[in-house]
Amino acid sequence: MSKTFPPSPEIAKNAHIDSAKYDAMYAASIADPDAFWHEQGQRVDWIKPFTKVKDVNYNFGDVSINWYSDGTLNVSANCIDRHLETRGDKTAIIFEPDDPNEPAQHISYKQLSTSVNKMANILEELGVRKGDRVVLYMPMIPEAAYAMLACARIGAIHSIVFAGFSPDALGTRINGSDAKVLITADYAPRGGKATPLKSNADQALLHCKDSVKCLVVKRTGGQTTWTEGRDFDYNELVLEASDVCAPAEMSAEDPLFVLYTSGSTGMPKGVVHTTGGYLVYASMTHEMVFDYKENDIFWCTADVGWVTGHSYIVYGPLANGATTVMFEGVPTYPDASRFWQVCEKHSVNQFYTAPTALRALMGQGNDFVTKCDLSSLRILGTVGEPINPEAWNWYNEIVGQGRCPIVDTWWQTETGGHLMTPLPGAHAMKPGSAMKPFFGIEPVILDPQTGIEITTNPAEGVLCIKDSWPGQMRTVWEDHERFQQTYFSDYKGYYFTGDGAKRDEDGDYWITGRVDDVINVSGHRMGTAEVESALVAHSKVAEAAVVGFPHDIKGQGIYCYVTLMNGEEPSEELRKELRTWVRTEIGPIASPDFIQWAPGLPKTRSGKIMRRILRKIAENDTGSLGDTSTLADPSVVEDLIANRAGA
Ligand code: WTA
Repeated sequence: MSKTFPPSPEIAKNAHIDSAKYDAMYAASIADPDAFWHEQGQRVDWIKPFTKVKDVNYNFGDVSINWYSDGTLNVSANCIDRHLETRGDKTAIIFEPDDPNEPAQHISYKQLSTSVNKMANILEELGVRKGDRVVLYMPMIPEAAYAMLACARIGAIHSIVFAGFSPDALGTRINGSDAKVLITADYAPRGGKATPLKSNADQALLHCKDSVKCLVVKRTGGQTTWTEGRDFDYNELVLEASDVCAPAEMSAEDPLFVLYTSGSTGMPKGVVHTTGGYLVYASMTHEMVFDYKENDIFWCTADVGWVTGHSYIVYGPLANGATTVMFEGVPTYPDASRFWQVCEKHSVNQFYTAPTALRALMGQGNDFVTKCDLSSLRILGTVGEPINPEAWNWYNEIVGQGRCPIVDTWWQTETGGHLMTPLPGAHAMKPGSAMKPFFGIEPVILDPQTGIEITTNPAEGVLCIKDSWPGQMRTVWEDHERFQQTYFSDYKGYYFTGDGAKRDEDGDYWITGRVDDVINVSGHRMGTAEVESALVAHSKVAEAAVVGFPHDIKGQGIYCYVTLMNGEEPSEELRKELRTWVRTEIGPIASPDFIQWAPGLPKTRSGKIMRRILRKIAENDTGSLGDTSTLADPSVVEDLIANRAGA
């Protein structure tokens, strides 16, 4: 039995949801989803109220997901306008710059309204219309949030590309969604260095249609090159732009955004989220999972380039009229106390981060934390990967001083919001366990071979979800076939998460990690296929296989097996060249940790690469290679073991 950590009586008493309420609400949400979600649908303001709640078909070949489909609304009006009367002067966004000596900005809901309307009018002047796509490639500055909300205001669909992606990756995504406008900044300051975003954008745009326009926000004022007629200066246009822009009336099922994410095969796919259900789900989970109350200061340290930033920096908090912190920097700049100094400076109540950041900070010693006044913290959260008990205990004892419940939130880009997590006032937490399903979520564990539901406890297998919830993705951008194939074909009638899970004797869930060829590097999702195709695009590489291996800080590292073209000689220099190559093709987050020269790869007689074996070698667990009898050439494996890279 693992040790459990119940919430303090005070937290439980004051929380929105206590244990009895969770049980009752959860039962109701499963017994009658229509009634439950009808009521929850009232948390957003509708222009035309919905009469239908749920209209979902999970049958392979015919998958369609609709929520509140005859209602109309506008997301930006829900995140801004409806708060103006009662919260106009309340701070919507606290912007904390990379450089601690640069003053923070407090942006009120009124100011947010002005800036978003101006940005919306600028986009309209650039020719953006309802349904058009706008790509954002931005630093973590308030203008990123303005741009998202401005798109929502006029009914344009945003697609954010994380600023750490390379020009090549950016170009592919601009073309993938056929975007009309790219919004970027001159530079992105991070950790004392500045990424030249505009220059990256210039390179990306070389591979895009000439008609794509580029709106540039000046962040540092550093030098950029300018293409007349294509590039537009936001800081100039904003001076003239009108601050009045009526919100477009959108159908609940109109797309709000596309966000590219990695899968087990092929190139990243555009996850499509729509308007009504997504907003209901983001705002509801934000309020209940973080026990958010009026006047709390909420800080999610993610980047808006990831789904966590979409749902829990921008849409969830602002729909709830909250004060949300946007942090431009990194946890270790100027030193390892930055997170905690920002918590102290802005009296943060809820702090939400990734295990990888905690593991990195944990190694720097406790003084960086304990010298800060963290008494404002009430709830802590983690996301992105399983949290190991050491990091959990450190978070609990050193950061939370044993007072703050930790919500270990399991979810995905595809799910729009949290699917499993303890609720702070309701559940006795177990370090490393995502614990309980959120309202309306029915997780099931299936036998991976037979696909049959395991109903007894304890159980272990693949994790699927039985029925839909409003925040679920609706399709893959312009590829509904791929959507069905990825999520609904392996286990018919369920949404397949790609994760494995255990359910313990008490019925609590533990995520065991991906069961497909997706790896999780520092909380970032990476398809091994993407890294492989980057490697084989190099002229000296004949073949490549990429697997994850356990990494102390990053969770998983990237291990590459590379077979060179005939006549090419392995060298340290070439290894460096390939590493740089992958960074250019994808971005720094895809940098290989190890590259092993592989004269051959272990394959079955039918030519399929046996990744299981490659994983074992990368993990240095070669004592248990399992069945190797189907190998076409067993000597390949001996060579790989003998020449294993790394420690
Ligand atoms: C993993 C991030 C364990 C999981 C919101 C999932 C987690 C993938 C957790 C989605 C958690 C996320 N515990 N694993 N609390 N949260 N994951 O799309 O493997 O970037 O499938 O969404 O991260 O990553 P994504």
